Amino acid sequence: MQQLSFLPENTHKIINVASVKQRSPFRYPGGKTWLVPRIRRWLLSLLEPPGEFFEVFAGGAIVGLTVAAEELAAHVTLVELDEQIAAVWQAILGDEGEWLAEAIVEFEFSSENVEHVLSRDSLSQREQAFATILRNRVNHGGILAPGAGRIRAGEGSRGMRSRWYPETLSQRIHNIAAIRDRLSFIHGDGMQVLCEHATDADAAFFIDPPYTAAGKRAGSRLYTYHELDHENLFCIAETLQGDFLMTYDNCQGVRQLARKHGFDMEPIAMKNTHHAQMTELLIGKNLDWLRQSIHPQF
Ligand SMILES: C[S@@+](CC[C@H](N)C(=O)[O-])C[C@H]1O[C@@H](n2cnc3c(N)ncnc32)[C@H](O)[C@@H]1O
Repeated sequence: MQQLSFLPENTHKIINVASVKQRSPFRYPGGKTWLVPRIRRWLLSLLEPPGEFFEVFAGGAIVGLTVAAEELAAHVTLVELDEQIAAVWQAILGDEGEWLAEAIVEFEFSSENVEHVLSRDSLSQREQAFATILRNRVNHGGILAPGAGRIRAGEGSRGMRSRWYPETLSQRIHNIAAIRDRLSFIHGDGMQVLCEHATDADAAFFIDPPYTAAGKRAGSRLYTYHELDHENLFCIAETLQGDFLMTYDNCQGVRQLARKHGFDMEPIAMKNTHHAQMTELLIGKNLDWLRQSIHPQF
C-alpha cells in the first residue's frame, strides 16, 4: 500500500466499468472490463496496429472482443482451454451464433428448466454453448468451475434470474457474430500458442492467466483449469518478439518473477467484485505508455 503513494495518479484512478461497453455474453470471474481503456491506450501507443492480437487466456474475452470491434488490430485470436467456454466461442464464431441467440431469447426461465438443462450430458456443441451461458448466469459470481453454487438473493430479489438478460445477451451474440471475420478461436493451451507465435514481431499478446502464482490460490476456486507453470509463462514471455501485456495479482512473488525476467511493471488500482479497492499488477516490456498517459512530461 505504501508503494501506491509514489505512483503517478493515473494508475490510482479507478475505471468506472459502467463506462466500458459490455460486449461479452459472459459475466466472467476475473474479467478485465476495467482494463479496457488501458488496453486501448497501449495498442494506440504502438508504432503500428498489431497484425494479430492474441488473448491467450480468453475466458469472457472482453479485451479481445473490444480490440476486434474497435479494429485496434487487424485480427484477433482468442485461446481458451476450458471446453465449456470453448463451446460458446466455437458456436458464435462458427455458424451457430444465430441459433444460440434465439435459444437464449426463447428459453422459458424457471428453476426446473434451469436444473434440467444443467443436468444434461452428451450435449452437442451448440447445446453445450447454451448450457454454459446459462450456468454462467445462474451461478454465484459467474463461476463455471465444479463446486460453484447458484445465485441465491440477486438484484431486486430476482434470485437466480437476476443476471439473466435474454435480449441483451442475444444482442451481444449477434454483435460478435457480425465481426467474426476479424476473430478466430483456438480451443487449446495458451502457453503453446504463445510459443508458436513468439517470432511474430507484428503480434501483440494479452496474457491474463489464473492467479495462482506464488502460492496464491485465488484462481483455483474460480476456474476449472487453474494449474499453470507461472515460471515457464514468464520464460515464454521473454521470448516474444511482439509486445505483450500481462496482468497478475500484485504480490511479492509475482513482482520477484517480473524483476527476474527483466520486465517493467506497474500496480494499477481496480475494484474487485465485492467493490473493495485493490491493486493488480500490469507487466510488460515497457510500460512508459501507461505512465505517460497522464504525465506527458514523464
Ligand atoms: C483470469 S481468467 C481470464 C479472464 C479474461 N481475461 C476475461 O476478461 O474474461 C483465466 C482464464 O484462463 C483459462 N486457462 C487456464 N489455463 C489455460 C491454458 N493453459 N490455456 C488457455 N487458457 C487457460 C481459464 O479457464 C480462465 O478462463
